[in-house]
Amino acid sequence: MIYPIFTYGQPVLRQVAQDIDKDYPELDKLIDDMFETMYNSQGVGLAAPQIGLPIRLVVITLDCLSEDYPEYKDFNEAYINPHIVEFDESETKLMDEGCLSLPGINEPVRRPTRIRVKYLDRQWQEHDEWVEGYLARVMQHEFDHLEGKVFTDRISPLRKQLIKKKLSCLLSGKFSCSYKIKRK
Ligand code: NI
Repeated sequence: MIYPIFTYGQPVLRQVAQDIDKDYPELDKLIDDMFETMYNSQGVGLAAPQIGLPIRLVVITLDCLSEDYPEYKDFNEAYINPHIVEFDESETKLMDEGCLSLPGINEPVRRPTRIRVKYLDRQWQEHDEWVEGYLARVMQHEFDHLEGKVFTDRISPLRKQLIKKKLSCLLSGKFSCSYKIKRK
């Protein structure tokens, strides 16, 4: 099932998401549906708050990048209760980001290139690992959603001023996009 994507201005995108436990109802189906929703909208990541659920659940697909990054061939992962526990601030990078919840906006965001994350995979195996490169970038964007943040919170004040009109169009529902959304 393809969920509608909640867009900028929806209160759920500003909530801090909660950890879930093993008896969360129909979790497997939910994860499958999140993958389907992400593929349908051609995103590389989707966080549960973007479909209206304030829980710590994220899916990421990097297979579409595998031509340039062979290590991401067939990369389709679900992250349950992810938390970033350390940022390696020794190197940061400015990179363009976009978001399914903010259609039509792409802006450069500065983030550390390496992070340490803890999460459970789909089989409820615990992971505690350092991640870098493109995956670290996407994880930081997606896990921000679980903290009630969106990427435009992290752009420069000047860039923010420049996209003010676009953001207010999103808030007032004056925009179009190619996938199913839930407007305010
Ligand atoms: Ni996003």
